[in-house]
Amino acid sequence: MCGIIGYAGVEKAVPLLLDGLESLEYRGYDSAGLALFTPAAELLTLRAAGPLTALRKKAWDSGKLEGGVGIGHTRWATHGEPSEANAHPHRSAGGKYTVVHNGIIENYETLRRELEEEGLAFSSQTDTEVIAQLLERVDTGDPLETLRLALPRLEGSYALGILYEREPDCIYCARKQSPLLAAVTESGTLLASDAAALLPYTRTVFRFEDGEMACLRKNGLRFFDSDGNDLDKTPAELARHVTAADKSGYAHFMRKEIDEQPVTVRRTLEPLLPHGAVELGAAEELLAREEIRHVLFLGCGSAYHVGAVGRLLVEELAGIPAAVDLASEFRGQAALVDPRTLVVIISQSGETADTLQALRLAKEKGARTLSVVNVEGSSIAIESDSVIYTKAGLEVAVATTKAYSTQLAVVYALAARLSECRSGNEPRDFLHALAALPDLMEEVLRASEAPALAWAEEIYTAEHAFFIGRNLDYAAAMEASLKLKEISYIHAEAYAAGELKHGTISLIERGTPVISLCCRPEVVARTKGSMEEVAARGAKLFCVTTDASFRPERRILLPKCHPLLVASLAALPMQLFAYHCAQLRGCAIDKPRNLAKSVTVE
Ligand code: AGP
Repeated sequence: MCGIIGYAGVEKAVPLLLDGLESLEYRGYDSAGLALFTPAAELLTLRAAGPLTALRKKAWDSGKLEGGVGIGHTRWATHGEPSEANAHPHRSAGGKYTVVHNGIIENYETLRRELEEEGLAFSSQTDTEVIAQLLERVDTGDPLETLRLALPRLEGSYALGILYEREPDCIYCARKQSPLLAAVTESGTLLASDAAALLPYTRTVFRFEDGEMACLRKNGLRFFDSDGNDLDKTPAELARHVTAADKSGYAHFMRKEIDEQPVTVRRTLEPLLPHGAVELGAAEELLAREEIRHVLFLGCGSAYHVGAVGRLLVEELAGIPAAVDLASEFRGQAALVDPRTLVVIISQSGETADTLQALRLAKEKGARTLSVVNVEGSSIAIESDSVIYTKAGLEVAVATTKAYSTQLAVVYALAARLSECRSGNEPRDFLHALAALPDLMEEVLRASEAPALAWAEEIYTAEHAFFIGRNLDYAAAMEASLKLKEISYIHAEAYAAGELKHGTISLIERGTPVISLCCRPEVVARTKGSMEEVAARGAKLFCVTTDASFRPERRILLPKCHPLLVASLAALPMQLFAYHCAQLRGCAIDKPRNLAKSVTVE
């Protein structure tokens, strides 16, 4: 996901813009740029492909670092390759408008053809450049009026920072379906696409709603509605647990975030289990309506894996038919959704385009939509009927760990509440075990570090690895496999243990690493059988288990826990294992190649 930063104030803008972009690096990008009004009101644009250091060098080499009004951008390429020419900001042919943009303009090709036919020359392959050119094309000399003429022509999503060459003290901005925040600081005003860039300066932020525009100046900001009328907005305070990105001595954010999980799960559970019983707050209303006949979990990547756990919990605890679907596949499979369906949308960022579109489709079908989101005020949180926030805090590493485990915690509480709604009885044993989960997680993290490193040292050079399990162990195996793939680049597959023999076992050869999750007691015996099948074909076996009597050569023993909570414990050694494999392979652990922290394109 790209990053936007803007500053209008009495200090030099460039250092603040570069620092702001640095705090957004974790989202993933492949080029960056900034635009600045110099004290002589000259509009200076600097762009560079590659890491932010390239832009920083260009800025220093330019020797033109004065000026207190500017915008900056980190780009994760969608339309057009990662290059300086495609980096933002983009300037209109006549130079009047300079734009940074998050989002996708879906009708950019039509608009581009129309503008080229009118003689406008384009200089990039991006959809964003169309915005700058269109603004110039319809310019009336009043940027706000020009925005009101141009924005309705744009189909898709946008968060915009705009400089108008005739107003060197102002940043114009607008938002539609892509997050944008603003803040007032002692030295001026700030614009950002993510709270992470504002945290070093303030915890009081204005969140743009769809259709809203604003003008930022050094002495304050003015908001406008889509008709250009003044808008009086109330700022919000960032949640206490949202803190600035800080490694606190760890080599990587991911390693720190792995260790934070007992605390963040405990913090997430606290409001949900205030007195040992489940209270879902505003989400209770969703459950109080007519009977829920069907629960459907939707998400992408790790969020989907949370749903794979959630559906089993709902079926086993509440006895309600449940399913999980990849958000990107849901489009064609919404037939079963109706007003008696509770659709649970899982998303750390709350901005994943596939998931946001699936939410909108579920709402069109009349489903009740409950989102489980980590970023307050994000699009999915705003657009769902109700939201339960995870309290994971800012998750910087692209590979999710603490957001995943806090999402699981919310899903456990939801399943327990559905059980109570359905049967009238609280699943007391489960709730008691859930309340104790953070303590168990602490114990597992302490015990897993050494064996996870030892396993990594044994197989970090492997090209392929398999993760197998049944039921909840299979859901945990999917997450373990993704973790290994996305940060170590080792090809890994998760397989339902019982399914291997129906074809895929042909891939097993001498030394193939197979990591078996044998944590759910009810299915361990049959997974042991699967282990024997692959061992007979030369596989190198590793096993995570809660069964102390089972003593395979390479074993990580987890403490006994409620059988429905095993996915939360099994995830921990698998996160550490993936982390150590990536470290031994010298990979960019926090910012893996090709990945973005939030995928805001479909
Ligand atoms: C997980 O480690 C990945 N970063 C990725 O699969 C992620 O879970 C997925 O893109 C969904 O993101 P979201 O939770 O922000 O919607």
